[in-house]
Amino acid sequence: MKTEFIKADLNQKDEKYQDLLKRAGELIRKGGLVAFPTETVYGLGANALDEKASASIYQAKGRPSDNPLIVHIADICDLSNLAAFISENAKKLINAYWPGPMTLVFEKKDIVPLETTGGLNTVAIRMPRHTLALDLIRSARTPVAAPSANISGRPSPTKACHVMEDLNGRIDMIIDGGETGIGIESTVIDVTAKVPIILRPGYVTGEMVEAVTGDVKTDPAVAGESAGLKPRAPGMKYHHYAPNAPMYLVKGEAAAVVKYINQKIKEHSVKGWLTGIICTEETKEVYQGGVLINIGNREDEDALGKHLFSALRELNEKGVDIIYSEFFNEEGFGQAIMNRLLKAAAYQIITV
Ligand code: TXA
Ligand code: MG
Repeated sequence: MKTEFIKADLNQKDEKYQDLLKRAGELIRKGGLVAFPTETVYGLGANALDEKASASIYQAKGRPSDNPLIVHIADICDLSNLAAFISENAKKLINAYWPGPMTLVFEKKDIVPLETTGGLNTVAIRMPRHTLALDLIRSARTPVAAPSANISGRPSPTKACHVMEDLNGRIDMIIDGGETGIGIESTVIDVTAKVPIILRPGYVTGEMVEAVTGDVKTDPAVAGESAGLKPRAPGMKYHHYAPNAPMYLVKGEAAAVVKYINQKIKEHSVKGWLTGIICTEETKEVYQGGVLINIGNREDEDALGKHLFSALRELNEKGVDIIYSEFFNEEGFGQAIMNRLLKAAAYQIITV
C-alpha cells in the first residue's frame, strides 16, 4: 500500500486545506486509515462504527486485539449516540476538560462494535483539542477510533516523521500538522461507577479530577504494575515505549546521579558500548561522553512531557547500547511522565 504524506497548513485554512480534509474524511468514512495530529500524540484514525476498519487498525499497528481503541468525537451531541449512561461526574468532567487530553470510559451502546472496544461492553471516548483533529472528525461524519499511531510497543509519535517511521506502507495517509503540544497520551478515566477511577495518568491530573468531582481513585495497577496487579485499562499491561536498548532510571541526589552515570559511561566505553542519557537543561553540561538527549528544564514539566517520546526514538536512531535516565518529580503531570518512563525502562530503577 502506498502511504500518502501530506503537510497541512493550520494557519491558513485555504482551499488546499479544505480539499485535504474532505479527502481524508472520505477515506475514513469508507474504511481507510488516516494518521493525524491531536494535542497529545498522533492518532491512527478509522471509522469507529465500522468493525472492519477497526480490525485494520489492529493489523496495521500489530496491536493485540483485546486492547480497546479510543473513539474520538468533535461534537458533544455525538456522545449520547455512543454512551449508554452519562453520570453526573462524567458531565462535570466533560464541562471542565473537553475538548482536551481526557478520555472517559462509559457503558457502550450497541452501535459501537466490539471490534472497536476490544470485546468490552464499555467504550472510551475523547473530544480532542486540536483544530485539525476536530476538522477531520467532522469531515468524516462518523466517530473516529484512534489509538496512538505507532507500531505496538514503540513510543507514541509526537511528530509526523515518527508515524512515517512506523507505519509507512501500512496505512492510507499521514497528515503532518507539526509537533504535538503535550506529547503524552490522554488521561483515561473510568466514569461507569460513582467515583471516577484514573486508569492511565495524563495531562489532566488526579488533582484536576478531584477539583470538579470531589473524589477520585487511581487504578492500583498504575502505580504497582511491577507488583503484578492486573490493570483495568487493557493497554496498560503491555510492554510499552520500549527503546531497543535496555534502560535504567537513576534515582538519588542530583550529584550522586551524575557521578553514577559518568562512572557507567566510562565503564561501558571500555567495552565499546555507546551510552544514551536522558538529561535536563540543568545537567546537559555535566556528563562526560555518551549520547545526551536534553528533554528540557526540570521545573518545566510541560517541556519534559513534550520531548520524552521523541528522546526515546532518537536514542534508537543513534544506536545506543544502554540508556540511563534521570528521575523526575511524580507530582501533578509528573505522574504521567514517570509512568511512561518507568514503562520504557521496564521498571528498572537504580537507587544511588
Ligand atoms: O491521547 C490519546 O489518548 C491518544 C490520541 C491519539 O487520542 N490515543 C491513545 O490511544 O493513546 P491508545 O489506543 O494508544 O491508548 C488507549 C488506552 C489503552 O491503554 C486502552 O487499554 C485504554 O485506553 N482503553 C480504551 N478503551 C478502554 C475501555 N473501554 N476500558 C478501559 N480502558 C480502555
Ligand atoms: Mg498507544
